[in-house]
Amino acid sequence: MMIELCDSADIGEGEIIRVDVPGCPAIAIARHEGALYVFPDRCPHADESLSEGWLEDGRVVCGVHFAEFELGSGAVHNPPVGCPNLSFFKCEDRDGKVFATLTGGPEHV
Ligand code: FES
Repeated sequence: MMIELCDSADIGEGEIIRVDVPGCPAIAIARHEGALYVFPDRCPHADESLSEGWLEDGRVVCGVHFAEFELGSGAVHNPPVGCPNLSFFKCEDRDGKVFATLTGGPEHV
């Protein structure tokens, strides 16, 4: 089931925002080249917030140990030891609102 997260206008190009959904771990939403990406606001390396990081060259950069995750595939670059890929939730922009499927865990888009 898709859950409404926020207005899509809340996320500017090149930004990452954090959204708190009752009953779910914090969610991050990023916009790159117009497309939206929804993923856990938790770096798979050491659980730090990815919305505190930034976007660069189509990647989410974690500001703590600088792992870089490709938007979409989640493939990790520059990984600290033991850092896996990032997973994404299925999402869509529906009439100006961002919806994502948060149940069942992150899925690759
Ligand atoms: S917590 Fe993100 S790279 Fe270490």
